[in-house]
Amino acid sequence: MNTQPIGIFDSGVGGTSLWKEIFALLPHENTIYLADSANAPYGSKSKNEILQLSIKNTEYLLNKNCKLIVVACNTATTNAIDILRSQYKVPFIGIEPAIKPAALNSKTKAIGILATKGTLSSELFHNTSTLYTQGHRVVERIGEGLVELIEAGKANDPLTKALLKTYLDPMIAANIDYLVLGCTHYPYLMPLLLELLPEQVKIIDSGLAVAKQTKVVLDQYDVLNAQNTPSENQFFTNGNPEVMKDLLGGAFNVDVLDF
Ligand code: SIN
Repeated sequence: MNTQPIGIFDSGVGGTSLWKEIFALLPHENTIYLADSANAPYGSKSKNEILQLSIKNTEYLLNKNCKLIVVACNTATTNAIDILRSQYKVPFIGIEPAIKPAALNSKTKAIGILATKGTLSSELFHNTSTLYTQGHRVVERIGEGLVELIEAGKANDPLTKALLKTYLDPMIAANIDYLVLGCTHYPYLMPLLLELLPEQVKIIDSGLAVAKQTKVVLDQYDVLNAQNTPSENQFFTNGNPEVMKDLLGGAFNVDVLDF
């Protein structure tokens, strides 16, 4: 039994969508969530900048004695996780767009992928996409501006809806039946996505799969927390704590970091 916390970081508030899956599946695990909102979005930064920010976030969480780190950011995973794994001893869990299940289940053989520039241009994304989407029409769109709007607490704003529509329209025209959300911020767009997409389009993200993988790895390393008491969950941000509190349903305290 190991009561050390799981560390989770993201470029901002979006990774709380993944934190919710982990919390639901592992309710006894203590967690520390770090939102690097002051540096969001990571998706338009260089690979080296993303790496340096990921190292800084990792060091912060390791100083708080975390036993495992979840990189709750597709952009940081696809650009930095290999180097993080080679530099630190703790296990790292990353998140990548769910291209495989979308491609395997698509009947129209057309799938849409919405992600950041940093994710779509990464080698890891390119390799996964090439492996699973042979014979498919893949409509990729960079969700330019969406992370900023969600960070500003405007996930459900008419401006966000209008912008999102410009990314979805070419996918709808290509007759997609799966939309892959390749950024942990995007699950917060679900109400707008449901309004804008035809009913038959299924929307998938990797949150639940990553939570399950976190459980598997904790078990493999024999560091699951077997206690039956409720977990302690700490949230830190260098952005606006009110946005994060809102996304967490007002149930948690959020501390502001000078980071
Ligand atoms: C970003 O910071 O640009 C988005 C984070 C992600 O890729 O999940």
